[in-house]
Amino acid sequence: MKEERGHFGSKLGVVLASAGSAVGLGNIWRFPTETGSNGGAAFILIYLLFVLLLALPVMISEFVIGRHSRSNTVEAYRKMAPRTPWFVVGIFGVLSGFLVLSFYSVVAGWTVDYTMLSITGSLSGNQDFGEVFGGFVSHPYRPVIFLLLFLLITHVIVAKGIESGIEKFSKLMMPLLLVIIILLVVLSVSMPGAGEGLSFLLHPDFSRVTPRVVFSAMGQAFFSLSVGIGCLVTYSSYFSKETRLLPSALNVCIIDTMVAILAGFIIFPTVFSVGVQPDAGPGLVFVTLPNVFNHAFGDAAWVGDIFSILFYLLLLLAALTSSISMHEISTAYIREHYHVSRSRAAWIVTGVCMFLGTLCSLSFGPWKDVTFFGMGFFDLFDFLTAKFFMPLGGIGLCLFVGWYMDKKTVRDELTNSGAAPTSLYGAFMFLVRFVAPVCIALVFLNELFGNLIFE
Ligand code: PFF
Repeated sequence: MKEERGHFGSKLGVVLASAGSAVGLGNIWRFPTETGSNGGAAFILIYLLFVLLLALPVMISEFVIGRHSRSNTVEAYRKMAPRTPWFVVGIFGVLSGFLVLSFYSVVAGWTVDYTMLSITGSLSGNQDFGEVFGGFVSHPYRPVIFLLLFLLITHVIVAKGIESGIEKFSKLMMPLLLVIIILLVVLSVSMPGAGEGLSFLLHPDFSRVTPRVVFSAMGQAFFSLSVGIGCLVTYSSYFSKETRLLPSALNVCIIDTMVAILAGFIIFPTVFSVGVQPDAGPGLVFVTLPNVFNHAFGDAAWVGDIFSILFYLLLLLAALTSSISMHEISTAYIREHYHVSRSRAAWIVTGVCMFLGTLCSLSFGPWKDVTFFGMGFFDLFDFLTAKFFMPLGGIGLCLFVGWYMDKKTVRDELTNSGAAPTSLYGAFMFLVRFVAPVCIALVFLNELFGNLIFE
């Protein structure tokens, strides 16, 4: 018997699942790290501009393609542009889906470990957290076990299907995640000395803005909104005819941006309250924060313990609602292209990511000397996807919707065939035809050739 494709059962499910994809380690781990190293509020302003002008139009384009074709991200182009090379955009998406999920699961695995450590109290007391973290990530198999565990949890949710797996999980976890964030923000901003952290977040220092910072902000906007590799093409292929694409996309952007900024409100006041510098890089949440949790509350050490448990749980939940969406890109493709069951397709994806993820994990330890262009597997996969495939995919998506697709089809998708009129159609078309592809290409080429020529 042929398995049903599946669909989201409610409007809330659509927004929470898509926002779940967007809100992830990108918001809570990567955004503060990038903000910390790239000039605080100046970086945030550039980031916001890119979200609005580049990533949002790409997201809407993904929704248009997915909902119209009701297919995985490769088949979508095959259906809508038969006998043309457009499907290559989809293939790059599926490949990127594998790469992103693989390196993402490494960090997610660390969060599984840190959640357990904080629950068992092993992160309390006077310890050298730099050493704890360094020892853990370079251990020959410990981080690999957590990576595999994380991928298995992701697998179980995806294998259950769209409505009873992905949608149900997102509907349960996203509200919980928002509650935890608010609790943490309240705790964080009420710490003594928090003001300094807030002013770091709110006062832009443009002297730190270089072309590289601009490029990073664009990569971050794409990564954070999960756009450019067909993840949202896949999700929106499960949207109903009634789903309104523009408001849904706007809601997802608003939720994602809010969470990123709130994560900044959690991390920077906390970090500044004990006088630590905010530009610790990727170690910020695994080295600096445990230190802070242990020292910031004096005699009331239990508050730090609770802070720590909630924070790592938050990271873990956010990572899961995103990893299921990356997994679904390739699961949907394999299921439909090779006509296999969802469960088998999901196992193939999980298996491949377990292998690639292990390579990434080992690049922090025993294989740290195995490099390509100076990067280990982890950095290479991160670079290839966030800085390369996502922007290129973004250009492809904009050109497809802005120039290739029939205008009436695009308008019908955006207005639900006239049932939900919108005054934003013209603005969207302008962004998607001219502004987004040109800006993405400029930033991208500048980085590529700038580096080739000057470095
Ligand atoms: N948006 C996710 C985050 O911010 O953590 C990461 C992500 C999810 C990237 C899904 C790409 C993707 F297709």
